Amino acid sequence: MSDLETEIARRRTFAIISHPDAGKTTLTEKLLLYGGAIQLAGSVTAKKNRRQATSDWMELEKQRGISITSTVLQFEYDGCVLNLLDTPGHQDFSEDTYRTLVAADSAVMLIDNARGVEPQTIKLFAVCRQRGIPIFTFINKMDRPGLDPLDLMANLEEVLGIRSAPVFWPIGDGDQFQGVYDRQSSQLHLYDRVQHGANKAPVRIVDLSDPTLDEIIGSGPAQKLRDDIELLDVAGEPLDPERIAKGEITPLFFGSAVTNFGVERFLKRFIDLAPTPTSRPAQGGEIEPSEPEFRGFVFKIQANMDPNHRDRVAFLRVVSGRFERDMVALNPRSKKSVRLTRPQKLFASDRETVDVAYPGDIIGLTNPGVFQLGDTVCTGAPVQFRGFPRFAPEHFGVLRNRKSEKYKQFQKGIEQLSEEGVVQLFHEINAGRTEPILGVVGQLQFEVIQFRLISEYGVETSLDRLPYGHARWIQGPEDALREVYWGMGTRRVEDSFGNFVCLFESQWGMNHIIENNPKLRFLSTALDL
Ligand code: G4P
Repeated sequence: MSDLETEIARRRTFAIISHPDAGKTTLTEKLLLYGGAIQLAGSVTAKKNRRQATSDWMELEKQRGISITSTVLQFEYDGCVLNLLDTPGHQDFSEDTYRTLVAADSAVMLIDNARGVEPQTIKLFAVCRQRGIPIFTFINKMDRPGLDPLDLMANLEEVLGIRSAPVFWPIGDGDQFQGVYDRQSSQLHLYDRVQHGANKAPVRIVDLSDPTLDEIIGSGPAQKLRDDIELLDVAGEPLDPERIAKGEITPLFFGSAVTNFGVERFLKRFIDLAPTPTSRPAQGGEIEPSEPEFRGFVFKIQANMDPNHRDRVAFLRVVSGRFERDMVALNPRSKKSVRLTRPQKLFASDRETVDVAYPGDIIGLTNPGVFQLGDTVCTGAPVQFRGFPRFAPEHFGVLRNRKSEKYKQFQKGIEQLSEEGVVQLFHEINAGRTEPILGVVGQLQFEVIQFRLISEYGVETSLDRLPYGHARWIQGPEDALREVYWGMGTRRVEDSFGNFVCLFESQWGMNHIIENNPKLRFLSTALDL
């Protein structure tokens, strides 16, 4: 194996998706604990400290006490390099979360054992499904009473339409939670409770066939475990690696992040089952990670993460080849060559300079104004990655500039924020460049925009909200488009790339038009349009 192939084989790049409060921050912290990235995982109750240790970059984020931006964390475990794309849990920032999933090769879906699948999980799951990436399900909070594990499996199937293949099976829940049974090794992993889960959990391993099992875990739980396992062996979904790789079934794990129960075992199994960095579609064919030329794409632009620097960082996912500091690469969109100086790896608020990076890694590039969302960066013959999505906004409004002398700054601010993907701009068709309609996926994003326009561009604005709640990119034959009866509560506009979009006030109205126009395609995600 070449050096490049060895490094590729070592890497796993993934994101955790969940509804707020399912325990994503806690699980992230515990993964880092096992990865040796932090010595002592702070108790989740120490929220203030924890926040500082993660992604408290923007002033607004501090004021709001929620995580707006995504963090990329890299840690090693068992000889593997794990790139964890941390995504904001708050539902108002879901577009950023969606885009981050484009850089991931697999996802861990975290579910609260008492709540089952929740709304935000459904949306994020849909994006993973669309990409066909493997999804690993971790049922969390087993130290609290929850739904029966078989009911949780049924819930996944009913709500998300995915069958699960249990890798772990829980032994009790709440006060009675004793650990998990690993079906692959036929062993029980029993845990001692650790104060606040601050240290790695000590584990006791017992075989299912151990004659003293009834004494160890009690005869009731032992019998229930044997019955459940028998049922799963007969009626359950086999753990088929090919179907997992295609995202057709989800391997199922149980544990408790706050007490560390099951976290390390999960990490080991995840490394075994999760894909190494995958190929990506480009114009002219797939780009394989083992190709020698360095290539990557920008999936996120983050402004002013550090108020002392006032810069913009473009986050690039390496797709192929070996990245080296100071290398000269091409941006095929602008046809400009760029020296990639000061590349950064980000951990918490610390920035560490990266000398080399491999497929699956994420690096932060600070070249001001050079990169836009979706840009390819490459050496050798120019290529262009495809499939970078934009998601249909759900909130719309027009921003008014309060002081006419600030018009230029206002325009520049809006344009730059749209290049960063903070907002999407729509214009009236054939009306010239009038005031754009702004579209965002989460409405708090409007506050972010207004806040940033003041703090970075000195522009005060007021927002007029528009009544639309849905948008679709529409494609199809001209004559079919002409025949559409649009009716009330719709507005036809074009996006910044000149694509036709319709805004709808009500879901009902939108569905009605979709049903009546079968020759047209109504897209909630714009891919390479
Ligand atoms: P999030 O990032 O997904 O929003 O969730 P976060 O980790 O902040 O966890 C949300 C709440 O759930 C926290 O409690 C946390 O302690 C709790 N939690 C996470 N994992 C587990 C678990 O495995 N078992 C139990 N019992 N609780 C868990 P909180 O009350 O909101 O905060 P705090 O008072 O504990 O700080």
